[in-house]
Amino acid sequence: MIEFSKRLKSLPGYPLAEIPTIKRRLIEAGVDVIDLGAGDNDTPPPPVAVETMAAALRNPALSKYGFQQGLPEFRQAAARWVQRRFGFTFDPFTETLPLIGSKEGLSHLPFAVVNPGDVAIVPEPGYQAYIGGALLSGAESYIAPLRPENSFLLELEQIPQPVLRRAKIVFVNYPNNPTAAVATSEYLERTVAICRSHGILLAYDNAYCDLTFDGYRAPSIFETAGARDVALEFFSLSKSYSMTGWRLGFAVGRAELVGALTRVKSYVDTGPFLAVQKAGAAALDHSEELVAPIRAELQRRRDAAVTALQQVGFTVESPKAAMYLWVPLPKGVASAAFAKQALEGSGVVVLPGSGFGPAGEGFFRIALTVGAERLRLAAERLGSVLAATP
Ligand SMILES: Cc1ncc(COP(=O)(O)O)c(C=O)c1O
Repeated sequence: MIEFSKRLKSLPGYPLAEIPTIKRRLIEAGVDVIDLGAGDNDTPPPPVAVETMAAALRNPALSKYGFQQGLPEFRQAAARWVQRRFGFTFDPFTETLPLIGSKEGLSHLPFAVVNPGDVAIVPEPGYQAYIGGALLSGAESYIAPLRPENSFLLELEQIPQPVLRRAKIVFVNYPNNPTAAVATSEYLERTVAICRSHGILLAYDNAYCDLTFDGYRAPSIFETAGARDVALEFFSLSKSYSMTGWRLGFAVGRAELVGALTRVKSYVDTGPFLAVQKAGAAALDHSEELVAPIRAELQRRRDAAVTALQQVGFTVESPKAAMYLWVPLPKGVASAAFAKQALEGSGVVVLPGSGFGPAGEGFFRIALTVGAERLRLAAERLGSVLAATP
C-alpha cells in the first residue's frame, strides 16, 4: 500500500472541499441555493480581456511555453499598474514575476526560504494557501490568531522571541480574507520593523487592494520605509477583474527575492498561459475604468447585506474593503453546525469560521458574490436559522 507523507497528513481540511457535492445534491432536489461560499464574484470578466484573449488564441506564438519570463507585455503592464496605483517603480523584468494566480506564488514562496525546523508564521483564520505552502515546504507553522480585540491584525510583537528567531516567513494579508480587516500604516511599520530585525520574509498578500469602500484606499507594503529589504507583494487579477478561473497574478519586490521565487517556480511550473497574460495586460492597462464599477457594486452589496443581517439579529460591522462579511455568532453557537443548518435547512452556503482553523470559531463568512436582492433573501434565511438555533 501507499503510505502518504507526514506533510500531506498534516494539512488541515480544506473548508470549501465538501460544499460543491452538497450543493449539487440540493440543486438536484430543487432547492434554490444561494452560494455565498467561495470568493468568486458573479460579474463577468471585462470585455477587453475577453476580446484580447479571443484574438490571442489565434496567435500560435502565444500557445507556446511561457516559462517564467512569460509575456514581456504583461510584466510591463504590471509594473506600469504598480507605478500608477502606488507611485513605485519596479523593473518589469527583474522585480516583477507573473504567477498562475497569486495562490500559486504565495504557496510556493516558503520553498525559497524554509529549512527543516524553520518556522512559518501563518494567520488564523486565514487564506489556506499560507498554511498549505508552509507545511508542504517542511516548515513548522506557528499559528497567529487574528482576534477582534486586535482588530484582526497579525501582531508579530505578541509572538514569543524564540519563535521569531526561528521564523523565516510570515504571511500578512490586508484587506483581509476572511475578516475584511484593513491595516493602518502604523501597523505596517511595526510589522516591517520586526521582519527586518529578525530577517523574516514578509509575504504581503494584497489580492483585495482595489476592492475598497467609502473612499478607503488600501496601501502597498512598499509604502512602508524599509519594506523593500524584506517584502514581496502579491497581486491578483482574480477579484478586481472577475477573472478567478483565468489564473493570473503577479509578485513584485526586489530582484533577489523575486529571483528566489522565480527559481522555485522554474522547477514546478511553466508560468501562466501567454494568451491569458496578454488579456491580463489589457485588463491592467484599463484598471481604473474596469475596477470602479466592481467596487461600486460590491459596496451596494455590502450595504444591503449588512443592513439585512442586522435586521434579522446578527451583529455585523460594515467593512472598509474586500468582498466578505465576517459575522459573529452568539456565544456557544458552533460555526460548523450553523453553516450546515444554513446549507441543508435553508439552501444558503456560508463558510464556518472553524473551517479557517480553530481561531475562526464563533464566526461565519459571507462572500458578497451575488446581487443585493439575493443577499437580502439569504440574510432572511440565515435569520431564520439563527432564530431556530438553541
Ligand atoms: C487572501 C487571498 N489571497 C490570494 C487569493 C488567491 O487569488 P488567486 O486567484 O490570484 O490565486 C485569494 C483567493 O480567494 C485570497 O482570498
